[in-house]
Amino acid sequence: MYFGADYYPEHWPRERWETDAKLMQEAGFNLIRVAEFSWAKLEPSEGHWDFGWLDDALDVFYKYGIQVVMGTPTATPPKWLMDKHPEIYKRDFQGLVLGFGSRRHYCYNSEIYREYSEKIVEKMAQHYANHPAVAAWQIDNEFTAGDGLYCYCESCRQKFIVWLKKKYGSLDALNKAWGTVFWSQTYTDWDQIIVPRKSAVHRTLGAIECNAHNPGLNLDYARFQSDAIVDYCAIQSRIIRRWSKAPITHNVVNEKYDYYKMGDELDILTYDNYPYLSMRGAPDKNTQIYNPALQIDQLRGVKQKNVWVMEEESGPCGWNALSDTPRPDQIREWTYQTMAHGAESIVYFRWRACLFGTEQYWYGILDHDGIPRRRYEEVKQIGGEMPKVAAYNEGSTVDSEILMVRSFEQQWSHEFQPHSWEFDYRKYFFSLYCGFSKKHYNLDISSEKIDFSRYKLIVAPAFNLMDEALKAKFEKYVAEGGNLVVTFRSGTKEMDNSMTERTLPGYFKDLAGVEVEEFDARYHNPAKVKGVCGDGEVSLWLDILKPETAKVLATYEGDFYDGRAAITVNQFGKGRCYYVGCDLDEAATGELLDYIAKECGVAKAIDNLPVEVEAVRKKTADGKTFYFLLNAVEEKQEIELPFAAKDLLTGEKVGPKLTLNPYAAMVVEPE
Ligand code: GAL
Repeated sequence: MYFGADYYPEHWPRERWETDAKLMQEAGFNLIRVAEFSWAKLEPSEGHWDFGWLDDALDVFYKYGIQVVMGTPTATPPKWLMDKHPEIYKRDFQGLVLGFGSRRHYCYNSEIYREYSEKIVEKMAQHYANHPAVAAWQIDNEFTAGDGLYCYCESCRQKFIVWLKKKYGSLDALNKAWGTVFWSQTYTDWDQIIVPRKSAVHRTLGAIECNAHNPGLNLDYARFQSDAIVDYCAIQSRIIRRWSKAPITHNVVNEKYDYYKMGDELDILTYDNYPYLSMRGAPDKNTQIYNPALQIDQLRGVKQKNVWVMEEESGPCGWNALSDTPRPDQIREWTYQTMAHGAESIVYFRWRACLFGTEQYWYGILDHDGIPRRRYEEVKQIGGEMPKVAAYNEGSTVDSEILMVRSFEQQWSHEFQPHSWEFDYRKYFFSLYCGFSKKHYNLDISSEKIDFSRYKLIVAPAFNLMDEALKAKFEKYVAEGGNLVVTFRSGTKEMDNSMTERTLPGYFKDLAGVEVEEFDARYHNPAKVKGVCGDGEVSLWLDILKPETAKVLATYEGDFYDGRAAITVNQFGKGRCYYVGCDLDEAATGELLDYIAKECGVAKAIDNLPVEVEAVRKKTADGKTFYFLLNAVEEKQEIELPFAAKDLLTGEKVGPKLTLNPYAAMVVEPE
């Protein structure tokens, strides 16, 4: 396994490199990531290359047994390039130039930028292909992070036209798919095609641009931009592969492109884990702790393969204002949590807090003065433990019987038109994920394209865009004995983002054995529901169900739908389809999912654990069962395992009764 930190040799005097390398070696490091923002140092002016400083840095670190992930620096095109070709700049949805001064200021569709990117990537690949220090390549850095929306420049429009021609073949087909007869939007010449820039009527919903554009145009534009990002990445990966055999990665965040398509262009997917940042906005601590878990599970599902963490929080962090400082043992707990969910290598961000620049407040393992303190000692302890963990963890799998189907296209479609003002696909997905996790069920997350047959239970949250092929796939899975959970706002749309003419729940109607007679988007006006979920509260959306062949599991209380069905189950062939017609508060969500999982014979990782304790049941590459046990809070936890075990870090016998100290993380094997 690789264990290390993100390091910027260009930020520190050369005399310091050796001190850092020694400290790293003492902490068990064997990897640093370098160069991902260093274009201006590598090519200070057009065609003038300077790899000397990076070569020297690699030599110093390699002497101490430390390899590198070599980053291509295309997230920060230098000023000379932007001044020469200002048409590379990204444009926002108002057409305004997003200028120089931070990063990610380029358009993926700019041919000029693609050419310059190819040049620098080729130079680097050529130069470092056979360097023994290069363990892997990272392409660019966090595509689309920070800026949220896509680019809307003329290059994008031109390429969008080409993309649409390929997809639809004729304008007639396009006009039909988008329904452009509505509001006189019919296109009669390809060159009339627009990108969904700000139009005369426009609304913003929080961070989401709920523009008034045609839904077909919006979704195709998101798909097109996603393809453009993947394509831009593929250009770089093809060049690197021509020169180097080392694996290629990208640190995937932001969800503005299809991770599954991106996964095809990469060997390893890596995640940037900042638990304190992602905690913002989560309703409570017990929920916060599951966000990194979800993210890693989600990334592991992209290639159905273990991942790396390329940036693991290792200090108080922020650009303008700082987060809490990680508590003693908390960095360790975060590290083990990511490994529990599928990370095989860990790289901390960053080695040392920088003395200058936008991220000068962003602390790493060392403070600005470079003196090792508590956080360094903690990371060093982890470094000492890693070989023991890796022996079990490398090539291991999470032992999960539940699949949550995660779709980026569904997400984008919901973002443009969220149905209910506060409906958010990602939050809803997370609420179901937490519902299972807090009851200690392990989960896989992946695409609707994978083989369903090995799962006892599949959950497809708000799975709205549908077609006949998907209908047949879901039906086959259930008919053969699978259990499917479908929720409100599923099956109501066609793939082109228009509404289905079928009676709701549309494509899921046969499976669910219900008709959605009416629905009610509840805005700040909670409704009540009662049944196998206990007494629950609905705050976003409810479907009023008319069961046909389905059995009722919960009903609404009050309003004109008092006593009407809210949640149902339908026998379909050898399996069952659960239809969840409404959102539920946290407790009711947990009750419902626990009920369903039990009905479907799904086993918990470990039963009877406090909610603060996370348990992940894994299988080693050769099939041995082992567990990660994590206490994500500052309070001690007393637990009882259903087995006596060996602590894989100390070799000692532990359990069945165990005390988990604040932020404790253990790896155990049942005896
Ligand atoms: C990440 C990014 C890093 C660094 C870090 C702290 O999102 O990949 O380059 O900027 O955040 O801001």
